[in-house]
Amino acid sequence: MSKKPNSMILGTGRAVPKRVLTNFDLEKMVDTTDEWIKERTGIERRYIADEKDTTSALCADAGRAALQAAQLPAEKVDAIILGTVTGDVTFPATACYVQEMLGAENAAAFDIAAACTGFLYGLMMADSLIASGKAQHVLVIGGEILTRITDWTDRATCVLFGDAAGAAVVGPSDGKRGIIDTFIKSDGRLTHLLCMPGGGTKVPPDVALAEKMMFLRMEGREVFKYAVTAMGDAAEHILAKNNLTGDDVDLLIPHQANMRIINATAKRVGLPLEKVYINVQDYGNTSAASIPIAMNEALEKGRLKSGDCCLMVAFGGGFTWGSALVQF
Ligand code: UT7
Repeated sequence: MSKKPNSMILGTGRAVPKRVLTNFDLEKMVDTTDEWIKERTGIERRYIADEKDTTSALCADAGRAALQAAQLPAEKVDAIILGTVTGDVTFPATACYVQEMLGAENAAAFDIAAACTGFLYGLMMADSLIASGKAQHVLVIGGEILTRITDWTDRATCVLFGDAAGAAVVGPSDGKRGIIDTFIKSDGRLTHLLCMPGGGTKVPPDVALAEKMMFLRMEGREVFKYAVTAMGDAAEHILAKNNLTGDDVDLLIPHQANMRIINATAKRVGLPLEKVYINVQDYGNTSAASIPIAMNEALEKGRLKSGDCCLMVAFGGGFTWGSALVQF
């Protein structure tokens, strides 16, 4: 690897709610089948929050696990960056609630609303803060309770999403391992294809409730097309920029939205599925939580080992997309 990294991942963690909802459970709720969901998405089950679960508590649990893995006391965290579009409240930032729960009293805390790309946006910010000397340790979290903004009568969306949080502690590189590069991008002309249209200042909650605008809306087929292109582009771009090819990648961690998008991304960079981390069957689409959860599982299962080059790629509402190259 030619470029010397400034920062590296020191520890990761994940958290999920207790309840599991299977495709068979969904068959009893809407006009769908396990067969359709598996064939069109690869999803078999997903975790679902109960009334007491909050995004902040899930994120704090994932963050605590990451701090423990990194052996870093919470007071040493300089910034908490939380990727979420389903925060506890519109403001203050959910990252501030997480800060309080962790006792990370010396940190600055803020949210990033980059949907499914939220974790990679956060990773980029963390790397930049450390490279510029503005922070030493940054806790990057991706966490969502998407099922709270799910329309449970819409079979086109309600079968897709799940709730979870994943986190990573980013700190100074040891000179060999670390974040080699990050790439983020967005296209604000396509906001309407994946959004929650109400509840903000444009359509306030009272109006939005009546119009069913407090739910996630997605033009699935359109989003699918853009996701395939953008994730392939983001993967190719970061490899080319660093004079690498798919052969140099030991593990691809793609955003887990749909098995068909994962297959297309792997094919675009010439990677066999053995070199791709896949857990969409167990979690569904957990938006910003998807990549840190996959990374945490991959480390736990030995799928990511010391010296491995990992390529991460994501795409989401905005549209936003991005990639990261990390040497473990
Ligand atoms: O997280 C980042 C952004 N999100 C994504 O990346 C998701 C991108 N999109 C997708 O993954 C896919 O477009 C979906 C999984 C959402 C949908 O798959 P599709 O193959 O694009 O299906 P479709 O929307 O074209 O629908 C095909 C058919 C339709 O029936 P007709 O019109 O052909 O008779 C739908 O009504 O499947 C029907 N359908 C369902 N059938 C059974 C849609 N949802 C369901 C369902 N169960 N849950």
